[in-house]
Amino acid sequence: MGIVFHERTKEFHLYNQDISYILGILENGQPGQIYYGKRIHDSDSFQHLIEYGIKDMAPCAFEGNRMFSMEYLRQEYPSYGRGDMRYPAYELHQADGSRVSEFIYDGYSIFNGKKRLFGLPAVYVEAEDEAETLEIFLKENVTGTKLTLSYTIFRDFPVICRNALFRQEGKEPVVLKNAMSLCLDLPDADYEMVTLTGAWARERYIKIHPLHEGVQAVYSMRGHSSHQFNPFFALKRHETTEHTGEIIGMSLIYSGNFIGQVNVDTFGVARAMAGIHPEGFAWTLRKGECFQTPEAVCVYSQDGLNGMSQVFHKLYRKRLARGKWRDKVRPVVINSWEAVFMDFTENKILEIAETAKDLGVEMMVLDDGWFGKRDDDTSSLGDWYPNRDKLPGGIKGLAQKIENLGMRFGLWIEPEMISKDSDLYRKHPEWLIRVPYRQMCHGRNQYVLDFSKDEVVEGIGNMIISVLKDAEVSYIKWDMNRSISEAFSQNCEPEAQGKLFHKYVLGVYRLYERLETEFPDILFESCASGGARFDPGMLYYAPQCWTSDNTDAIERIRIQYGTSVVYPLSSMGCHVSAVPNHQTFRNTPLKTRADVAYFGCFGYEMDLNTLHEEEKREIREQIAFYKTYRSLIAEGKFYRLLSPFEGDEAAWMVVSEDNRVILAAYYRMRQPSNAPYKRLRLKGLEAGARYSIEGREGSYYGDELMYTGMVISDYACGIRPDPTRQGDYQSRLFILKML
Ligand code: DGJ
Repeated sequence: MGIVFHERTKEFHLYNQDISYILGILENGQPGQIYYGKRIHDSDSFQHLIEYGIKDMAPCAFEGNRMFSMEYLRQEYPSYGRGDMRYPAYELHQADGSRVSEFIYDGYSIFNGKKRLFGLPAVYVEAEDEAETLEIFLKENVTGTKLTLSYTIFRDFPVICRNALFRQEGKEPVVLKNAMSLCLDLPDADYEMVTLTGAWARERYIKIHPLHEGVQAVYSMRGHSSHQFNPFFALKRHETTEHTGEIIGMSLIYSGNFIGQVNVDTFGVARAMAGIHPEGFAWTLRKGECFQTPEAVCVYSQDGLNGMSQVFHKLYRKRLARGKWRDKVRPVVINSWEAVFMDFTENKILEIAETAKDLGVEMMVLDDGWFGKRDDDTSSLGDWYPNRDKLPGGIKGLAQKIENLGMRFGLWIEPEMISKDSDLYRKHPEWLIRVPYRQMCHGRNQYVLDFSKDEVVEGIGNMIISVLKDAEVSYIKWDMNRSISEAFSQNCEPEAQGKLFHKYVLGVYRLYERLETEFPDILFESCASGGARFDPGMLYYAPQCWTSDNTDAIERIRIQYGTSVVYPLSSMGCHVSAVPNHQTFRNTPLKTRADVAYFGCFGYEMDLNTLHEEEKREIREQIAFYKTYRSLIAEGKFYRLLSPFEGDEAAWMVVSEDNRVILAAYYRMRQPSNAPYKRLRLKGLEAGARYSIEGREGSYYGDELMYTGMVISDYACGIRPDPTRQGDYQSRLFILKML
């Protein structure tokens, strides 16, 4: 790993064993993009890779020179108004109304390690030699604004992290109307764009479409990263498959409004950008003030989508998630939501906990409905004190009783929200995000607190902290159940309005930071109506996230499969729920429900006391199974084998770091008639090692299992079809061990 600076040509070459990232300072002092991809040898000069051209009508930078136009140059952080007609990476509005600016090279710094981003989540290093960072300093000579573009390259990951920091040093204020975290001009557009899109209960479906001239984007303007689009996209070659070929993944470590956009010009250059969504964003910078963009992470892989995913998984598991729980096995939980919703008493919860304990569950999580006078979703958000009718001994009493059973206790909160029918609303109507003289939209009968204001974050934090100080709470599920409308900070200067969305997110991060500093042992799980804030920003604070409100096993196959494109299994909350399923009304076998939920942070979400003894026996075995394999599932390499987006079956597998233990799963969503033969070709095994397969005679070489495949047809090898394995919604698990 290293960063080389070539003084003569003013080129920087960042490299490690897998990748090279080369940029240079162009003739006009702006940074130009030269190369990003597989590692190449360093050279004195890469100037020959900078392509110029004479194009009619293009605004050219130098008198008498028709070759140098920003419109046709590949750049690192393009400006508005100095000749480039494509989308800019930032916009700086000035007091006289001008929007024209350009940042000119003003030096650089190279250092070991990586800086933390103030107030924002980011990838980190644990030792200085894990990464090297290049900072390029630029200056806007008219406004006096400074800009630092930061690039970190890692020793052990094919990853570049980028961010931008603006600082106003001129006397007149400027307004940042846009400030991307990343801009990457690629020399051709022969790519397909991979995105994760969806809606509530069908989050992060994989979509792939070829790039075309013009603009294509994923985005959120909802105040949170959203069910609809994840803050991620990848550009893959047409020939790239799940396991082979070139791909660049871009992921934004942020939980609020974002855009991930590719702008293809008519000369085939693809400009990829990611950052805070500019809609409604306006950040005034006075002399001495800074604006820090969130961090963007670029992964380059030659091993297809799956290769890219494995890099994200390891990076986000080990160098984004943090705290005590990062490396610890996660408890098997029972969550009260789909068991009793808000209709419970302390006794009811204890009855469920007792049965759960007996079956091997380690933590009882009390979900929504424990506070104020909340019996349905019309009241009490903001009143973070226990409902004594339901819980006579409060949270303290219940938590103690759960602890006495030998289990840990977890609690649900939704700190960013308020109900009209609440003491908090009556006391602090000015704490809401709303335009005072306009009607407010409700979402799930609730309203959003103005987390851009310190006193709101502080006040809510105090209430939550007093609950947590009073009781033995080991886990928090932090929910967020609506998008932001009527975005307006009451009683604030007009200038504050353009900062609202970003400051809101900073407020959320600050409260997480405060709670985690005060309670470092608590395991946090983030949630937003299921997976509406399943993003890297959240992962920094909460190592796991409730993947989706859809707990139907068949739907979950698609959701978890899509989520795994970026996020590790250790980040996905996955529970077995009752049938018929609450979201789809589907009846799936208990085995299938567990076989899907094992591949994440496992738990149950049903009233266990309504089950037959036979079902309880099965659950006891499921929990014992999960406990045996949970470290492998959390830490192993994950391979997607068959896509549920391409047919009626799916498969994936996890391989231990040392390649010795494998857990593979095959799911059949719909039974074909007169089924064809079926083999599952495994991945990541050692070709020359022999593996046993639990439940099968003999042993098999890794190469046979990878290239010939494992026969899973029902009739094969004299195996008679097992009647219990027929029909829709079936699943099978395979455990392989190296001999
Ligand atoms: C939405 C979450 O996704 C559910 O799991 C549950 O916690 C409800 N909110 C509670 O209101």
